[in-house]
Amino acid sequence: MKKIALIPGDGIGPEIIEAAVRVLDAVGRFEYVTCYAGGSAIDRFDDPLPETELEKMKACDAVLMGALGGPKWDNLPGGKRPEAGLLRLRKGLNVFANLRPVKIYPALKEASPLKNSVIGDGIDIMIVRELIGGIYFGRRQEGDEVAYDTLEYSADEVRRINEVACRLAGMRRGVVTSVDKANVLASSRLWRKATVAFYENHPEITLNHLYVDNAAMQLVVNPRQFDVIVTGNMFGDILSDEASVITGSIGMLPSASVGYPGEIALYEPIHGSAPDIAGKGIANPIATILSAALMLRFSFDMNDEADRIEAAVEAVLNKGLRTADLGGGEASLKTAEMTEAILSELK
Ligand code: IPM
Ligand code: MG
Repeated sequence: MKKIALIPGDGIGPEIIEAAVRVLDAVGRFEYVTCYAGGSAIDRFDDPLPETELEKMKACDAVLMGALGGPKWDNLPGGKRPEAGLLRLRKGLNVFANLRPVKIYPALKEASPLKNSVIGDGIDIMIVRELIGGIYFGRRQEGDEVAYDTLEYSADEVRRINEVACRLAGMRRGVVTSVDKANVLASSRLWRKATVAFYENHPEITLNHLYVDNAAMQLVVNPRQFDVIVTGNMFGDILSDEASVITGSIGMLPSASVGYPGEIALYEPIHGSAPDIAGKGIANPIATILSAALMLRFSFDMNDEADRIEAAVEAVLNKGLRTADLGGGEASLKTAEMTEAILSELK
């Protein structure tokens, strides 16, 4: 039986993880191991990611996480914050590629801030963000008057992230847009050179390059040009937030952080821990449920089950069922009700 490490985490995390587990149990049999990271780990162990928790996760087949962080831990020093635990978690699991699918559901088109003419017949982008290198992990120094962070990439790091992007593009429309700042940064010039060299062996893929400032603009003026976007850690962080809002519903977007094929991967919703609504039972569980579907597809090769979950979510949306964040208003479903609705579609 596949063993799933669950990190309920902070804020709404435990509520949405509970919802995802109910959906997983409806399509298969899994063993769960509860693990701690982020604020809940700070409270328990005074450490946002104790080594013992990381080892527990590594002994599982995949990790499903709710959300980490909250105001309670915001004033802690850098290395003790929940975010530090998240970065160590990514590094510790060696999940170097963060996949963020950005898709507009036809039923939610009106929620997008983009004009209908820009959305056209739909937007379907896969952002592939390098996750354990670049400026997030470079040498840094923090003083009171001067501080710096360094952005370093090796050709090997660029190649391995492109292997992931290329594989995904091959299953999609075959277009990869590499985003960099090669007009200014040395690390970006290396990025571009290594990327060009990589695709010389993949003539089936169309490779484009954009500078990051232009990419930010293109995402809102002509998002349909994008199939797969591949980029470094910080550019990917920024562009994926931008891309997520054009769907009109950050509460819908799942993500997968993966390493080499066959190795452990980490699945989580894109949204945060939403401390303002934690404990109220009103959070939208869909992003976490879709993250669980990605886990079935990428880690367990359970494509049929993943398809069924995704179809159930779409069916519920097509029926007009909405949680509060999706503009459900008076008729908004609570977390458990939305989960029930998805479960009944699965039957
Ligand atoms: C994300 C988040 C994290 C990041 C933060 C919380 C450290 O913004 O997953 O995109 O910057 O990677
Ligand atoms: Mg981010």
